[in-house]
Amino acid sequence: MWPVEGGRTPRAGAGTEWEYRGVNGFAWATLDQLRSRTSLKWRRYGEAVLPLWVAEMDALLAPVVREALEDVLARGDTGYPWGAGYAEAYRGFARERWGWDVAGPPAVALVPDVMHGVAEALALLGGPGDPVVVTPPVYPPFFAVAARAGRPVVEAPLDPRGRLDPGSLASALARAAAASPRATLLLSNPHNPTGTVPTGDELTRVAALARAHGVAVISDEIHSPLVLAGARFTPYLSLEGTEDALAVVSASKGWNLAGLKAALLIAGPARVPDLARIPESVAHGAGHVAAIAHGAAFAAGGPWLDELLGALEENRRLLGAFVGERLPGVNYRAPQGTYLAWLDCAGLGLADPAGFFLEAAGVALSPGADFGTGGSGAVRLNFATSPAILIEALERMAGALARRR
Ligand SMILES: Cc1ncc(COP(=O)(O)O)c(C=O)c1O
Repeated sequence: MWPVEGGRTPRAGAGTEWEYRGVNGFAWATLDQLRSRTSLKWRRYGEAVLPLWVAEMDALLAPVVREALEDVLARGDTGYPWGAGYAEAYRGFARERWGWDVAGPPAVALVPDVMHGVAEALALLGGPGDPVVVTPPVYPPFFAVAARAGRPVVEAPLDPRGRLDPGSLASALARAAAASPRATLLLSNPHNPTGTVPTGDELTRVAALARAHGVAVISDEIHSPLVLAGARFTPYLSLEGTEDALAVVSASKGWNLAGLKAALLIAGPARVPDLARIPESVAHGAGHVAAIAHGAAFAAGGPWLDELLGALEENRRLLGAFVGERLPGVNYRAPQGTYLAWLDCAGLGLADPAGFFLEAAGVALSPGADFGTGGSGAVRLNFATSPAILIEALERMAGALARRR
């Protein structure tokens, strides 16, 4: 329940240390620290707005990542990327977390970031005119990356629980395959924005459908470190029947490293020769310093990640309790992973819920309509922030709704 502990309600601004640490002691950044940041999340809107939109976290940098960066800078090690340190670190992480043995270096390519990795993967698998199947509501750049490659989008909407829907997938895959033998299915595993984590059985079914229609699969697994208690992540390539699939991974979401560009494109065994077709300039588009930071996160950032997950679980609990008690008309299905909450605001009868909360509450959320079919009437709330800021934002939203009544 909320207020959180012993009836205490966190407050942003006037927050005590406890209010920025939540109940498990995780060190979130304070409002003053966050306002000194110059990245997108805290600069797009003015100081009157609490930004709970773009997928940056309000965590302080994990000490192991910070130490790796300080070491690189002290040695002036700022040249082009080299070596398989990042890939090796990811292999160790995947083995330890999920018992998955990722193949060695020829099956793994360094790419600048996940969306460039997806773009390269699409280029390996097809060309202009070959459809891309997506599962909306979904991360908006999925539509943009397909459009940029001249590839029409075929939609396979999620089911009402925000999960992959075998029925809509079967029909979308059939339509895509009928249009071209080089169609691609692009998955978000875990799913942004609904925070669902597909089970091994669900993904096995997807793999069987894709195979039956001859459609190649790209699995975007950027959120895979962020799976909360009660769910388990399944790497798509760890399943039978995914030999010709590609996956893209990164430490960018798990350790908040979007400003340090480096990701990994991983090929199933049948696709390994294809990776050689990626131009060298793509790997050079990743930062050497960034690859070292991401490698440090995967190699030694597990304990910090576990603390973060505990803090996110606490915020998930707070959010669910607050929405249930104080935001009537808003429907909340607790996410299993990510730090994103998909709030169904259809019951509020607002034409533009994100616009309303920005104007009337001073809280920036991501408009659901940007996520495609099934998104309008919803907002995406980023709860990777201190309990103090989260509760303050929710109080503002509740106040704006109360004034409207
Ligand atoms: C599903 C998904 N893919 C990709 C990205 C972007 O990753 P990158 O910055 O590495 O391109 C995000 C960012 O939020 C995301 O949610």
